[in-house]
Amino acid sequence: MDMPNRVEFREEGVREGFQIEKRLYPLADRVRLVEALAETGLRHIQVASFVSPKAVPNMADSAEFFAAIRKKPGVAYTALWLNEKGFWRALESPGVDMQARLALYASSEFALRNNGCSAAEMARRQRDWMAAYAKAGVQVETLSVLAAFGCNFEGDVDPARSVEAARIAEDLCREAGYGIPKIMLADTMGWANPAAIKRVVGAVREAVPTARVGLHLHDTRGLGGANVLAGLMMGVDLFDSSVAGLGGCPFSNPGDTTAAGNVCTEDMVFMCHEMGIETDVDLEALIECAHLAEAIIGRRLNGHLLRSGSLARFREAKAMALQA
Ligand code: COA
Repeated sequence: MDMPNRVEFREEGVREGFQIEKRLYPLADRVRLVEALAETGLRHIQVASFVSPKAVPNMADSAEFFAAIRKKPGVAYTALWLNEKGFWRALESPGVDMQARLALYASSEFALRNNGCSAAEMARRQRDWMAAYAKAGVQVETLSVLAAFGCNFEGDVDPARSVEAARIAEDLCREAGYGIPKIMLADTMGWANPAAIKRVVGAVREAVPTARVGLHLHDTRGLGGANVLAGLMMGVDLFDSSVAGLGGCPFSNPGDTTAAGNVCTEDMVFMCHEMGIETDVDLEALIECAHLAEAIIGRRLNGHLLRSGSLARFREAKAMALQA
């Protein structure tokens, strides 16, 4: 399949980044980062999650966080939830763009640690989620398949698990009278490699050809960029990513807040632009956001362009020299 002409990056650095930190950062700083990201051309920013504050204390003030953001028209400010209680909390919180999702686990061990239930129980609960969505008048936008490529606690994961998850979600949506629009395959713990991307994306597409398949990749072992490229080469045009490479799941790499997080948005936008793929994102503005994220977090973050910058200034200098 050809590479896409245009790719969409859904920014998850704020939710992913702050959830793993040991301390709560000032609300004003987090708001400043979201508002700056919204000025870059990114159209989807995942701000926070509505999970148990006992499990993730840094997400205790999600409602206040959403309420405090000055919204830019055309940008979706979304939330994550992992149970029905979280969904209702998000629905009741002003300023949350309700993009409903289903969540299924390819690893039962990880489901237990992250969600307090088995993968099979989570699958069963999705029927209750569908009923809640119908009651609230929202439709499923996305299925997330967590730990689709491997699991620190369960080992290698068979692509058949992702196919099964995709089929479950497709059936639930069909019963509700619509198709499943998007399936995000998550490499939650950094087990993927380019060949695995090809295998799992291929298998899921074959099983549910009508869904747009996207990737949520972590750069835990340095293969994030290679995995994005593998996705692009299969025509994948939707990626979750994090400014400055923020992020990481507190239930995947326990205690390690310095481990690489999600694939870095500005680095991946740079790769796309260099290859002639449009993203609608202002790369230089995004690099400024990465610097802002680093200043707020207060330690060196993982993005490469944070240190090197893009190639723009070299190209400008060359153009000026030619003009002179
Ligand atoms: N929001 C606020 N509180 C919640 C909640 C939510 N979404 N879900 C559960 N709680 C509270 C319950 O009210 C209960 O409180 P209590 O002890 O004061 O009565 C307590 O948490 C336990 O509730 P229970 O229904 O038994 O949930 P659980 O212990 O099975 O936890 C999750 C399920 C999903 C809520 C929990 O595991 C969690 O929040 N995990 C976070 C995972 C995460 O964020 N991972 C990173 C992103 S993938």
